[in-house]
Amino acid sequence: MEKELNKILSSFQGKSNELIPALQQIQEELGYLPGDAMLYAAEFLNVPESTVFGVASFYAQFRFTPVGKNMIMVCKGTACHVKGAEKVLDEISRQVGIEDGETSADMQYTLESVACIGCCALAPCITINSEVHGRLNAKSIEKIFKRKKAEEKTNE
Ligand code: FES
Repeated sequence: MEKELNKILSSFQGKSNELIPALQQIQEELGYLPGDAMLYAAEFLNVPESTVFGVASFYAQFRFTPVGKNMIMVCKGTACHVKGAEKVLDEISRQVGIEDGETSADMQYTLESVACIGCCALAPCITINSEVHGRLNAKSIEKIFKRKKAEEKTNE
């Protein structure tokens, strides 16, 4: 992992004020912040380990457990709530077999409900990785996951 982290942090100078962008970069590459990576960042940036752990736990954007290949974020902001976000969440949960906040055992999916994702005109909406899917209903959700599952099979 040290070699990989070295590469991930190669664009940083090792200064303490780079802590947040460095953690973001690690998460971007690894999908989450493993404990070893945070220790490595502490040493690389010359900041106390307690500061790294403190900062990482303060910001909701950082995660400490691995996520699935497909990160599904279901918007539960006001506009989406009004347009049936709860039903969307239930339907997706049914499609992928996990509840809000869980990752599937095969590491294909992580499902999370989040606040407004900034696409209110498309409510109710979700993102799967960086792709936005809007104006969802049970039928369109089924279609999305049928396609996802077919893609998974092709990549096996
Ligand atoms: S409330 Fe869902 S995108 Fe804004």
